[in-house]
Amino acid sequence: MANTILVGAQWGDEGKGKIIDVLTANADIVVRSQGGNNAGHTVIHRGVKYILHLIPSGILRRRKVCVIGNGVVIDPVALVREIEGLQKMGIAVGKNLLISDCAHLVLPYHRVLDEQRELLKGHAKIGTTKRGIGPAYGDKAARTGLRISDLMQPALFSKKLQAKIRENNSILQALGAKPINFCEVKEAYLAAGEKLRPFVANTVVWLHRALQRDRAILFEGAQGTFLDIDHGTYPYVTSSNTTAGGACTGSGVPPHRMDIVMGVVKAYTTRVGEGSLPTEDATLADMLHEMGREFGATTGRPRRCGWFDAVAARYATMINGIDELAVTNLDGLDSVDPIRVCVGYRLEGKRLDVPPSDAAQLEKCEAVYEETPGWKTSTQAAKKFSDLPEAAQSYVQRLAELTGAKLTIVSVGPTRGQTIVL
Ligand code: IMP
Ligand code: MG
Repeated sequence: MANTILVGAQWGDEGKGKIIDVLTANADIVVRSQGGNNAGHTVIHRGVKYILHLIPSGILRRRKVCVIGNGVVIDPVALVREIEGLQKMGIAVGKNLLISDCAHLVLPYHRVLDEQRELLKGHAKIGTTKRGIGPAYGDKAARTGLRISDLMQPALFSKKLQAKIRENNSILQALGAKPINFCEVKEAYLAAGEKLRPFVANTVVWLHRALQRDRAILFEGAQGTFLDIDHGTYPYVTSSNTTAGGACTGSGVPPHRMDIVMGVVKAYTTRVGEGSLPTEDATLADMLHEMGREFGATTGRPRRCGWFDAVAARYATMINGIDELAVTNLDGLDSVDPIRVCVGYRLEGKRLDVPPSDAAQLEKCEAVYEETPGWKTSTQAAKKFSDLPEAAQSYVQRLAELTGAKLTIVSVGPTRGQTIVL
């Protein structure tokens, strides 16, 4: 397999976890390069449901090495919980996991600050996962963050942590929030740090050695294009680069070593949290929720739902350089008739082909739809493209055509077997 960057081409939750799990069969190494435990990747394997937050989904396959790269922010206590949870479920986690010594730490004050800032924002809140992601990346950019390498040096870590807690407690007190207890945090983090020690490495050098030996690397994106800190619907975004470039900076693998970018889209659109969703449709959301679909893997929140947005998908193809397209959750539309696809936006009488950069303008955009008849039959047993009802075939082909990328995967259910490779 060529080195592949896999990105979400919508607002996250495109079904990346399952596609990564399928692609991992042909990869040697799977790398996470951004985000933290705000992510929730659901994979169903042999009837068992796994939800991964920080560990690459590749961990579920034997003889694959998973790397948590320098661009990820790590809550060490949550990571230990995730490792031990997988081990209890019979998944081997040992030499197959590497953690970058340069990755930044998420600390308890980040979580409290995340919560407090959301409260202060009131109606203008972002709807974050409250995992402390924004404040942790904030400290990283302000050059005041603590990293895994600090955690590996207990005396140094304690000293730096004490200063950081003192500084943050004065902010928390001013906000009327409970101060953080230094000793408790120190103990919990150092204990987690000892459990993580065997996994910690200079992952940049390790990845370059693997490249020299022609190992195939899969870069697993978390969240989606429109949650990107630079290219998303700012300020309703996450705090990392979720687009293809993030795979380079977040892993130390240079751009010219990347071969293919695969974009993942749902056959419709969903979003968790606040911010515009031009194709949002309450009736579609009710239908999907009644089917038990579209509840957040990390927070359990019902996701907002809408029709496929080709304006957004086309933009995502441009920003990421998407070569290949995977369409997931096609079966979610099995009973929907007719099906709509957004082919343009209308803003103050003008037709737009690209999303406006400004959040207030995007909020005012009206979707322009194209309507196609549904197929009104289950697609879940389809093994090859020709097994799909004709209306479903032309629907996904139309999505690829509007998006401008080559259709290579269609997913019709959560299991590995429910994957059509074209
Ligand atoms: P944060 O990443 O927790 O700061 O949240 C910022 C925004 O990104 C919120 O709208 C979240 O709902 C959204 N978000 C963060 N992680 C994910 C994800 O893995 N899937 C979908 N949405 C996400
Ligand atoms: Mg998710």
